[in-house]
Amino acid sequence: MTTPAADEAATAPTHVPSGSPGDGAGRQIAVVGAGYMGGGIAQVLGLAGADVKLADVSAAAAHASYDRLLTEAGQFAADGLFPADAVERLTARLQASDSIEEAVAGAEFVMEAVPEQVEIKHPILTRISRANTDAVIASNTSTLSIALLAEAVEGAQRFLGVHFSNPAPFIPGVEIIPHERTSQAATDLAVAIVAEAGKRGAVIKDVTGFVLNRLQYALFTEASRLVEEGVTSAEEVDAIVRTTFGFRLPFFGPFVIADMAGLDVYAACYRSLQQTYPERFATPRALAELVEGGHLGTKTGGGFLPLTAEQVPELISYRNRAYVRLQELLDELGPAPTQPVPAESDGDAAG
Ligand SMILES: NC(=O)c1ccc[n+]([C@@H]2O[C@H](COP(=O)([O-])OP(=O)(O)OC[C@H]3O[C@@H](n4cnc5c(N)ncnc54)[C@H](O)[C@@H]3O)[C@@H](O)[C@H]2O)c1
Repeated sequence: MTTPAADEAATAPTHVPSGSPGDGAGRQIAVVGAGYMGGGIAQVLGLAGADVKLADVSAAAAHASYDRLLTEAGQFAADGLFPADAVERLTARLQASDSIEEAVAGAEFVMEAVPEQVEIKHPILTRISRANTDAVIASNTSTLSIALLAEAVEGAQRFLGVHFSNPAPFIPGVEIIPHERTSQAATDLAVAIVAEAGKRGAVIKDVTGFVLNRLQYALFTEASRLVEEGVTSAEEVDAIVRTTFGFRLPFFGPFVIADMAGLDVYAACYRSLQQTYPERFATPRALAELVEGGHLGTKTGGGFLPLTAEQVPELISYRNRAYVRLQELLDELGPAPTQPVPAESDGDAAG
């Protein structure tokens, strides 16, 4: 039976945050570590139709996670963030297990999402790999080397990183990180499961920080320096990021942005930046080579990406519509509640 709120959600024009029901049907998956990330991943995979068994530090913890995930799914559905029938679908697909061994038995894919400590992950990965000698095993680690974690896996060729972002139900991108000995079949299975969940997977190499955190932390380092140098406040850095180049990022990555700006323009900016910050802002070799070769981005029909001059009018039109629509969305949502809540005003004093 659906609630009135769920009925409302059913008619609301909301985005379904995961694959259509059935995309992952028939998959047998285990999530070990059903906390914040593991729980969200279980919801995503369950909504895509996979059977997902949850394991945690104890049977009680796994059952508590199961209850929490269904309650949360009900709230998300009522808020129009999950499909209206999310609770029914997840009730049919999720199952709490009494042990890791019980959860992984018969699974073709095991997602490990225990805390980010090698001392915790290593014994858990050994346990998982001994309990199921066939399954592909993936870690959701944000920062640990996949090759290092693979040392604990019996059959390291079936191990890789599958890095969902927080909050897993709503962030579309997933990094897929084979280490040097990961088999192609293991990578292919991870790619398929991520796609069935309606996510955008990207297969990358096993380097510290992967791609997401290398970039995110580079930005954070520079943002922190600006505040430490007294250039401006943390609030103003955030505002500048949100309202200038950050405004482009939902639509365009750094290479499209550079190609659209003009690589000669970028090279000129680097000349200026590297005079003051030679270690941090030396002109990237690839940029210098493209400029030397006369490849200046969209204006010459080719830069980092094969964008041609003919594509530019359409691209500009898309860009302008995208920015106007984004501003409309921001106006509709209102500012993020990052400001301190003002203290209750004293009516007498105020009057
Ligand atoms: N939180 C984030 O923003 C984020 C984003 C991306 C990736 N990650 C990664 O995801 C992983 C999990 O992070 P989280 O934020 O979900 O942590 P969390 O603390 O919310 O969840 C960890 C879960 O693992 C369980 N656990 C602990 N020891 C266990 C054991 N021995 N056996 C079975 N289960 C055990 C805990 O009870 C808990 O439910 C980490 O590797 C983290 O780096 C986190």
